[in-house]
Amino acid sequence: MVQQISEVLVLEDGQTPPSGTTTPPRKPNWYDTFSYIANPDRFCRQNLEQFGPIFNTGVFGGTTIFLGDAKAIQMAFNGDLKYTEIALPSTTMDMFGEYSLFQRPDLHRQRKSALRPGLTGQALDGYLPYINDAIAQGIQSWTTPSRMALYPAVEPICFDVLVPLLLGVRLDDSDPTTFEGLPVSSKAELKALYKSFFDGFYGLSKWKSSLTAYGRGLKARAALIDFMRAVVKKRRIEGKAIDPTTDFLAMMLVSQQENPDGVFSDTLIENQCLLELWASHYNISGLVCSLMYQLGRHPQIVQKLREEQERVVDGQSNVSTFSSAHLKQMEFLEVAIKETLRTLPPSSTANRRLTKSVVLDGVLYEKGCVLIAEPRLAHIRSEHFQEPEVFAPERFLPERGEGKMYEFIPFGGGVHACLGAQMAMLVTKVFASHLLRRFDWTLTGEPQFVQFPLKKMKDNYQIDITRRGN
Ligand code: HEM
Repeated sequence: MVQQISEVLVLEDGQTPPSGTTTPPRKPNWYDTFSYIANPDRFCRQNLEQFGPIFNTGVFGGTTIFLGDAKAIQMAFNGDLKYTEIALPSTTMDMFGEYSLFQRPDLHRQRKSALRPGLTGQALDGYLPYINDAIAQGIQSWTTPSRMALYPAVEPICFDVLVPLLLGVRLDDSDPTTFEGLPVSSKAELKALYKSFFDGFYGLSKWKSSLTAYGRGLKARAALIDFMRAVVKKRRIEGKAIDPTTDFLAMMLVSQQENPDGVFSDTLIENQCLLELWASHYNISGLVCSLMYQLGRHPQIVQKLREEQERVVDGQSNVSTFSSAHLKQMEFLEVAIKETLRTLPPSSTANRRLTKSVVLDGVLYEKGCVLIAEPRLAHIRSEHFQEPEVFAPERFLPERGEGKMYEFIPFGGGVHACLGAQMAMLVTKVFASHLLRRFDWTLTGEPQFVQFPLKKMKDNYQIDITRRGN
């Protein structure tokens, strides 16, 4: 049972910890960063076996404490403004810019509440017809039977789903008028800018030059902001009343009209569009591919999912749109996606620096250390999950009730919990539903994964795919 955060003892400077307090085991090593980036799964597993779920590392310099224990994770997730601050490299913070939710702890809650209506609940129901259409159209172009590189087939579809919903613009390469007034002339150009922007977050050198990922990232960032500014301008001069339910941008523009002195300045709006696409596109693409991989390994689960599909759409063979009522009934698909997130978590979470020393359960976490809550630790512990090495979606069903808060953390948790978790689940569910109904696929051996900064299957991994009913 997870206990309350009040158990965290926050020490003032100079205050001595209670007697008997220990510190996390393991000495930080200078080569930890390389070992972790090369293979985060192996790094976490080996250290968990040797040192337990909480241990010191030298990852990213200084002392970085890895956390795989639910109570310690809860402590790390909820220290904002009390005893932690965001501890991301300065290159990453520059790429985020001053309007991200990670920059201003004092404005965080207000900004997050203002953004939420565009990414959750009823807004998502409104986005569903478009999500269905874009996915159905995207997979329609897959040639079958064929051997197909999986990630390069899935990623452009996710881009087509997310760009209109988050940037508020539908780009059609076959219709040049869609680019009128915009400083990019094709989807490929926009996507290339996004890739440079994304890579800039993880640049190691702070040199502003076209020779560094950081330099290229900043340049791409500026171009993307120009792009968003032009999109907003175009939207405003269209002269039509903006419908706040059509996309995330529209929600912000209407909020701004209603409350000009509120959260939404033009700059915040432009930045938020960029950041939400950054947060979602590669993550969701990676998740859809990981799910297809796990289903390829477990045909009996595919069988159960197909039975669920039949039940939910009541035997209709030509369903092309999954409604929110359909999706709510797809409980087994929901848990299959969760089990994919448990076994192949896309990223680590919560880089937080302690601004004060704290004591929890007799362990001292010293001021200045960085905390990383690691799903790669929390998700493989038998204290959190029965037989963690087995792929078993049922563990998340109410009967087994595994996956409690702070034990299952693919979307982080606490104060900075992912704002797009519902949207990510929804898009993945719709994608999977279309795939299950339209295609059979088999794996061609074991894929390799890019592990850092996000887990994603390598581009060259192929599957054999056949249209169902062929
Ligand atoms: C599979 C998909 C996704 C995964 C695995 C994921 C993962 C995460 C994680 C781990 C965090 C917490 C980071 C931390 O505490 O340091 C986070 C935060 C966040 N995510 Fe996601 N995310 C996904 C999709 C999305 C989508 C679709 C959006 C928006 C469209 C989004 C927007 C955000 C935002 C805005 C935050 C920051 C929240 C805050 O600071 O309060 N994410 N995400």
